[in-house]
Amino acid sequence: MKAYTLTGYGDASKAQMREVERPVPGPGEVLVRVRAAGLNPVDYKIRDGMLKPILRLDLPTTLGNELAGVVEANGKGARRFLPGNRVMARVGKERLGAFAEYAVVREEFLTDIPESLDFKTAAAIPLAGLTALQALRDELQVKPGFRVLITGGAGGVGTFAIQIAKHLGAEVVTTASQRGRDLVKDMGADVVIDYEHEKFEDVIDPVDGAFDLIGGETLSRTFGVVKKGGRVVSIAGMPEPRTATKDLDGRYGLAATFWFASLKFRAHAARAGVDYRYLFMHPSGSELAYLAEMAHRRLLKPVIDSTYPFEKIDEAMAELEEGHAKGKIVVTLDG
Ligand SMILES: NC(=O)c1ccc[n+]([C@@H]2O[C@H](COP(=O)([O-])OP(=O)(O)OC[C@H]3O[C@@H](n4cnc5c(N)ncnc54)[C@H](OP(=O)(O)O)[C@@H]3O)[C@@H](O)[C@H]2O)c1
Repeated sequence: MKAYTLTGYGDASKAQMREVERPVPGPGEVLVRVRAAGLNPVDYKIRDGMLKPILRLDLPTTLGNELAGVVEANGKGARRFLPGNRVMARVGKERLGAFAEYAVVREEFLTDIPESLDFKTAAAIPLAGLTALQALRDELQVKPGFRVLITGGAGGVGTFAIQIAKHLGAEVVTTASQRGRDLVKDMGADVVIDYEHEKFEDVIDPVDGAFDLIGGETLSRTFGVVKKGGRVVSIAGMPEPRTATKDLDGRYGLAATFWFASLKFRAHAARAGVDYRYLFMHPSGSELAYLAEMAHRRLLKPVIDSTYPFEKIDEAMAELEEGHAKGKIVVTLDG
């Protein structure tokens, strides 16, 4: 089968389309014939080697973190889905493989695709949608009346985050360039700051919590606008000890590394009297079922910036790396 394969860490030349053996589902796993796969910044971060300290991958390996497709076969003990079922998933972090004609996925990471969603739309939901849900509902505990700042509202995660925060009853303040303004307004944002011309800390009232999608200097400025006792959840800053203990199976060696690496952000947070949490999202079929149902009921609208045929995945990756996508980039495979 064709698979977009990582042969070594580095630039775009390290990932190529190759003919590889079709994977075989092990116990509790399902073989899926992939019909569409979503792209995420983590795809090129993995390729670059940025995630090497966290993810243990044996190279060569097939890339790709999320998919939609049709069940082809079940491994031993996997019974929830039948051949022919339409399914979607954020695949396992240490067994990737969505950028291929067939992929193996643990049964508990899969959910059914509602009839009303096509493969392309379903493939755009898992990683970004789950990240937004876990950050806003579980980490920030957004409730009606909560005022949240979401930096980077126009991208893959941001477009889900605005909609989910609104669904949870929040008032949403977000940042976007002029190019993304109409989109984030359409998603439901109440206040939009043009980050190319204004600094949010100069113009907004304090918020109850913040979801940071940008990291770096933007994250540092975020601590100053969150009320004392509030929380900043980042997915783009620096991992901190709880990233290791809560999100990475309690890897205590990594917790010590993250303690040092996040010192600057934790010090900013402490000075502002807020909590700093870096979330590394987790796959979940049951949480994805919730998002799929929201999309089916038109309470959640996946936004697709562009679609490429699988054969042109190099071009899709290049567009993703430019960092200006409005919503998600998806590749499709022939049915
Ligand atoms: N830790 C985790 O579990 C996890 C999970 C998912 C994602 N992430 C990370 O979260 C980040 C966002 O992911 P994504 O999928 O949303 O990325 P994305 O879709 O590539 O984001 C692109 C969007 O970001 C906007 N943008 C760029 N710089 C900005 C800035 N300074 N302020 C406001 N908006 C800005 C761009 O708008 P303009 O072009 O108009 O400027 C563009 O629309 C990435 O670093 C990703 O790796 C982490």
